[in-house]
Amino acid sequence: MPAENVILVGFMGAGKSVCGKMLARRLGRCFVETDDIITGRDGRSIADIFRQDGEEAFRRLEAEAMEALALKSGDVIATGGGLPCREGRMDVLRALGTVVWLQGDLEDLLSRARRAGGRPMLAGRTPEEIEALYRQREPYYRQAHIAVPTSDSGVDHVVARIVAALRERDAARV
Ligand code: S3P
Repeated sequence: MPAENVILVGFMGAGKSVCGKMLARRLGRCFVETDDIITGRDGRSIADIFRQDGEEAFRRLEAEAMEALALKSGDVIATGGGLPCREGRMDVLRALGTVVWLQGDLEDLLSRARRAGGRPMLAGRTPEEIEALYRQREPYYRQAHIAVPTSDSGVDHVVARIVAALRERDAARV
């Protein structure tokens, strides 16, 4: 049986990229980011796509990137924070592999996301609007197979938690 993909979901600043890269190294897997699939195909940065074509156009590119994921097997895949948050998308991701939600307190997520910058979905939004966006997304993230807390720990620790949770899930399925 081919190895299952591991798909990381979560809000901006959850650490999907940094934890995903380390997790892939640790598991000896390839690492893929849906945002990289999009920018690689389109040729523009995420910020330029949002600025020039708007959010809906970006979400359509996400849907196309999801189709490309069907070819993956055994990879660690980091998704953009908004990718799973449309009707039916979590079902598609769950069919592609084990979906892991990197959870965190909104304050921690935002301080990480702001440190790194380049998040068009945060630009020009009030704290209340960002909180509403997070609340609206949570029910989608919640559909992940596994939830891993990130607020109280560094990358190493989070990756160790993901590995342990994946092993537990595998053992339960035998
Ligand atoms: C987005 C999150 C970003 C990126 C785009 C939109 C979102 O990815 O896909 O800016 O809607 O939350 P990260 O979650 O890696 O920041």
